[in-house]
Amino acid sequence: METMASITEVPVIQVLEKEHYFSQALVPLPSAVPYPPLAPSSLLLRTKLLALTVNNFTYAKLGFLAHWWDVHYLSASTPAPYDDPSKYGRLSAWGWAEVLELTHTGVPAGSFFWGYQPIGTLPQDLTNINIRADGPAYAALTRIMFETAYLMNRYALGSLASTPSTKEAGTRGATFLLCTRGDNEPVAQLTGVSSEYSKAFVEGTGLYDMVASTAESSPAEVLAKMGISESEKIVLVDFGGRAKVGITWATALRPVYPNFLMLCVGYEILELSETDALAVLQAYGTTSVIVNMGELLDQAIKIEGEVKYYENLQRAWESFHKEGIKGLEIR
Ligand SMILES: NC(=O)c1ccc[n+]([C@@H]2O[C@H](COP(=O)([O-])OP(=O)(O)OC[C@H]3O[C@@H](n4cnc5c(N)ncnc54)[C@H](OP(=O)(O)O)[C@@H]3O)[C@@H](O)[C@H]2O)c1
Repeated sequence: METMASITEVPVIQVLEKEHYFSQALVPLPSAVPYPPLAPSSLLLRTKLLALTVNNFTYAKLGFLAHWWDVHYLSASTPAPYDDPSKYGRLSAWGWAEVLELTHTGVPAGSFFWGYQPIGTLPQDLTNINIRADGPAYAALTRIMFETAYLMNRYALGSLASTPSTKEAGTRGATFLLCTRGDNEPVAQLTGVSSEYSKAFVEGTGLYDMVASTAESSPAEVLAKMGISESEKIVLVDFGGRAKVGITWATALRPVYPNFLMLCVGYEILELSETDALAVLQAYGTTSVIVNMGELLDQAIKIEGEVKYYENLQRAWESFHKEGIKGLEIR
């Protein structure tokens, strides 16, 4: 294992301008080395493997609201002009960090840590972290979406029926669009809706009763062809489809299906100012239920208790992981 003193390589971090996050700066930090000695009971971690998914852009877009810019601060060694936290910040991505050095007795050398990792080669020192063993790339790519779906299935969809704004839209017997089937089984029919680019993959997963294209000009006709009558319940789950497809489908289906409910999980990749991002959220909030994994997690832990929640989640994750997603190949 390396020691703090032996790490002399100049680290590089990714820095984004908070309001223009489509371009990045890779900033070397020569004054960060040599690193100070590691405090007792600590770990020195360096990001090893990151997932690049649509989610990275969500964190950039809504970082000001959910404090994602505050998870890993600009370090004191960041040079001008990037040292101004009102304008610049660091984002992170789900993935794995390797242990470079440790003074913590409960952690074996060579461990890897799962979490929201900073982007760059600057090590971070941490204490009190949980350990889980997993297929690293698979977990980096799918674990957060898996946990979001797990939480939605168990702690949101059932209870939606009793929330005042959606009491007519109970999900039992509903047709789900853009969604994966979970343990919350009372779904009558599950339809995936994807771009032409992703359609073959989505069909190949075998998870859906039917797969439609987001290019369809008449979503209501698609549902009619599936034999779904106007009295049925429809739940549209938007995972951030391209070109405002979620809104287009909702606008087309709402007048036809009185029992219609839209859940917003993701948002289209766009570089928006804080004001515009808030306006988008507010617009969705007036007509849809906005899904927030963090809030669901807090609720679930309150209901189950932390230990039981994580035991059940781990069991479900292992079984999902064992089965895998058909067609998802990681090299
Ligand atoms: N609400 C929450 O608490 C929560 C929690 C976790 C994740 N999320 C959100 O859920 C969404 C999906 O998460 P993910 O990161 O796992 O997504 P992902 O797998 O990277 O992408 C999901 C799909 O987005 C579509 N897409 C749209 N624009 C794209 C582009 N420019 N490049 C590539 N694909 C694009 C693709 O489908 P098509 O080809 O069919 O368009 C793709 O298959 C994200 O918006 C994420 O932020 C929300």
